[in-house]
Amino acid sequence: MEQSSRTSATDLRPDVPHPARMYDYYLGGKDNFPADREAAERALAANPEFRSTARANRGFLQRAVRFVTGQGIDQFLDIGTGIPTVGNTHEIAQQVDPQARVVYVDNDPIVLTHARALMAGMGLGRTDVLQADLRGPAGILSAAEVKGLLDLDRPVALVLAAVLHFLPDETEPYKIVETLVDALAPGSYLILSHGTADFIPPEVRDRVTGVYSKATAPLVGRSREEVRRFFDGLELLEPGVVTVPLWRPEEEPAEGADRVSMYGAVARKL
Ligand SMILES: C[S@@+](CC[C@H](N)C(=O)[O-])C[C@H]1O[C@@H](n2cnc3c(N)ncnc32)[C@H](O)[C@@H]1O
Repeated sequence: MEQSSRTSATDLRPDVPHPARMYDYYLGGKDNFPADREAAERALAANPEFRSTARANRGFLQRAVRFVTGQGIDQFLDIGTGIPTVGNTHEIAQQVDPQARVVYVDNDPIVLTHARALMAGMGLGRTDVLQADLRGPAGILSAAEVKGLLDLDRPVALVLAAVLHFLPDETEPYKIVETLVDALAPGSYLILSHGTADFIPPEVRDRVTGVYSKATAPLVGRSREEVRRFFDGLELLEPGVVTVPLWRPEEEPAEGADRVSMYGAVARKL
């Protein structure tokens, strides 16, 4: 695996499973180490649907980005970006609006290494990447990368896809989302997806959380109501908080789509 000069092996910690690299493995990517693959295999042994859930989450993200771009949104703040894969936020948005601008934020150095390589290859100046932690929302909002590319006085789509379940309650995830949303102009959108244990037996949940407890971030599933609370004060758009394949599907949802372990929704700031 190549490393940029800005990322050391110490930062990467190949010996410790990282959620971004485990997710890359679920999606069939190659940007992961043996420790990530072993942890991901243990999670898959507990819940073989992790793979299809990851794919369904990507489908939701892409439909939601396409939707908000169609509503005139041309700037995105995508926090918890993940290792670049097929159909990244800027690619989907720029298919609809070639002028769309995206700032990617992630706390995992490997994500930044790959994202920077991808952006350099494109060289369009309409995407930027920032290594920062969602637990410090004020720092993200004031970062040069965000201020340089996005005009927060105009509507933005804030993307928090499959990231908030890495923030336990003691990190105050609701307050973090509120801080970010408060900084956005009226007419902005929140695109959010979140893992849940609503549809799996407690012993499966415990095995999966056991795997992530040894990774760099724990996994905290939340109920539909707990996920809905992230949208307090916003106009939740139809169909509300649903399992990700059921959010405005473009084809007939597969059997069991209503029991996929990830909720998603899109809301608008009035
Ligand atoms: C499951 S991936 C989701 C990737 C992409 N958003 C998607 O939905 O396909 C979660 C990402 O969130 C990142 N992440 C986890 N905790 C974070 C934190 N506290 N701050 C910033 N990024 C975080 C991980 O490094 C990983 O890249």
